[in-house]
Amino acid sequence: MKALILSGGKGTRLRPLTYTGAKQLVPVANKPILWYGIEGIVAAGITDIGIIISPETGEEVKAKTGNGDRFGAKITYILQNEPAGLAHAVKIARPFLGDSPFIMYLGDNLIQNQLDPFLESFKKHQLDALILLRPVQNPSAFGVAKVDENGRVLQLVEKPKVPPSNLALVGIYFFAPTIHEAIDQIQPSPRGELEITDAIQQLIDQQKQVEACNLEGWWLDTGKKDDLLSANQIILDSCIVASTELKVDEKSQIIGRVQIGEGTEVINSTVRGPVVIGENCHIENCFIGPYSSIADRVTMIDADIEHSVILQGAKIVGIHQRIVDSVVGQRAQITKAPPRPKALRFMIGDDSQIELV
Ligand code: DAU
Repeated sequence: MKALILSGGKGTRLRPLTYTGAKQLVPVANKPILWYGIEGIVAAGITDIGIIISPETGEEVKAKTGNGDRFGAKITYILQNEPAGLAHAVKIARPFLGDSPFIMYLGDNLIQNQLDPFLESFKKHQLDALILLRPVQNPSAFGVAKVDENGRVLQLVEKPKVPPSNLALVGIYFFAPTIHEAIDQIQPSPRGELEITDAIQQLIDQQKQVEACNLEGWWLDTGKKDDLLSANQIILDSCIVASTELKVDEKSQIIGRVQIGEGTEVINSTVRGPVVIGENCHIENCFIGPYSSIADRVTMIDADIEHSVILQGAKIVGIHQRIVDSVVGQRAQITKAPPRPKALRFMIGDDSQIELV
């Protein structure tokens, strides 16, 4: 069994955060989303992993993730020159996949469940494809499945205007090598992509063994800001344990489950967990409230935040209104205006969103 993780694509939905970076590397609780997928795959006993990368963000994904040693896996990077669809990614990964069955894992998906039970079911029933389904409120944003009363998959449609059900396809699929013949038979969709949903539909039409499992635990398709914040909240809630040895000055107060990285100074501040703070940060005269993740090399002086994600190298200085439900990009700066400012002064990138309340 092998695994294919899709970490290419354009990632336009997290703009402007991902103009410069891969959306799969955006951290949740200070760990790239992509790494949760790799860890889940390795935990299911699969160590031969191919990762699809794009020309724009591939080098960053490679540099950050490495050859797999840190996960106990062997990673092979596969360049997809353009984001021509999920089935196209499988097509170009064919030399890597050979005749092996494989898990296909979308690099921006995050699930709570372990993969083992699904993998066992896939192997035991000798399926051609096993898909995971989850009821959602906005099925039109996903691939959607129509199933009969016995749970057999009848039809799959990609982002339908009129969805046949509320069952969305989760971005984790289990395939036998028969998927390659199905992919060879499909044509690009109206949006110009080779859709994996069309390839699975081919398998269904040819009476191959396609089954669906319901995903019971939480699932996050972390494409948007609010998804990212709720993923961050859930992971901080379930994964952060209190560190016993935290180096902070005597004027600082640490309450609840908090982790602080090497080289970070916390001075005259209150940190109320669950919170994770990365390495080499400077936190001074601050309140860091629950469900905040602060990446490496962040400077925060005279500032209050809660339920927010602050990326590497960002700087927040002199902001006494509490910053909530916010995502601050790499190296972004938020600094103080004088009291009762006559004017506000900005340097704001394309597509940024600033809300003054
Ligand atoms: O998240 C679940 C949904 O994922 C499913 O319900 C849909 O059926 C499926 O098509 C997919 O929809 P998205 O619109 O979310 O796909 P997106 O374009 O965001 O791509 C998903 C991942 O695959 C992302 O990490 C980028 C990567 N990718 C995407 C394309 C189109 C590639 O590596 N190559 C590609 O050509």
